[in-house]
Amino acid sequence: MLNLILFGPPGSGKGTQSKLIIDRFGLHHISTGDLLRGEISEGTQLGKEAKAFINKGELVPDKVVIGMIKGVLEKNTQAKGFIFDGFPRTKAQAAALDKLLKEKETEIALVLALKVPEKELVKRLLLRGKTSGRTDDANEEIIKARIQEYHDKTEIVAQHYKELDKFAAVKGDGTIEETSALLSELITPLAKEIA
Ligand code: AP5
Ligand code: MG
Repeated sequence: MLNLILFGPPGSGKGTQSKLIIDRFGLHHISTGDLLRGEISEGTQLGKEAKAFINKGELVPDKVVIGMIKGVLEKNTQAKGFIFDGFPRTKAQAAALDKLLKEKETEIALVLALKVPEKELVKRLLLRGKTSGRTDDANEEIIKARIQEYHDKTEIVAQHYKELDKFAAVKGDGTIEETSALLSELITPLAKEIA
């Protein structure tokens, strides 16, 4: 299996690049943000609980997202590998992911961290907010809260993977194609084992 984490602040391009990677390398995409928005639109109990956090730009409790990830891993036993987008976002989530993958006798191969200046993040998300209907893109205040939450709780997760020598930073403020080429260069050698 080949398991990758696409890491980075809100608006850094995790979702955009994940879609290109799954097309090219045939991995299964897991975005906790997309899963949570799905729960909200279906009006489930989980969605109702998550909504208040998301609308404030805060992280949803670990227990909720870890449970969702567990469910997806259990359902997709035939996958060649996973690309985790927007997960793990806390130290507790990283520890839980390590454990879940170990139970499947696999592990994270590499964390790809997208580096984008904060001004550019805000610009991208405000622009998307005009058409996306995403409540957490609605104004600069919520966007800034999301970025702050990233600095407070998520950035530290990088350290865990740096210590394991499984961390690569990638310039993420070029065009979508430029960033994709940089990511592919790093993934291609790893993808040989699932080819
Ligand atoms: P989530 O859905 O994960 O959102 P996010 O991390 O805040 O980031 P985005 O999805 O907005 O950005 P992205 O990095 O995917 O970039 P994208 O490709 O879309 O999480 C939402 C909320 O759910 C969280 O705030 C939290 O409440 C909750 N949540 C989710 N996961 C959680 C977890 N694990 N634990 C707890 N809570 C969790 O690109 C952004 C925009 O920029 C797009 O319009 C795109 O077209 C554009 N763009 C992309 N690349 C480029 C480029 N190179 N140049 C110009 N524009 C570009
Ligand atoms: Mg996303």
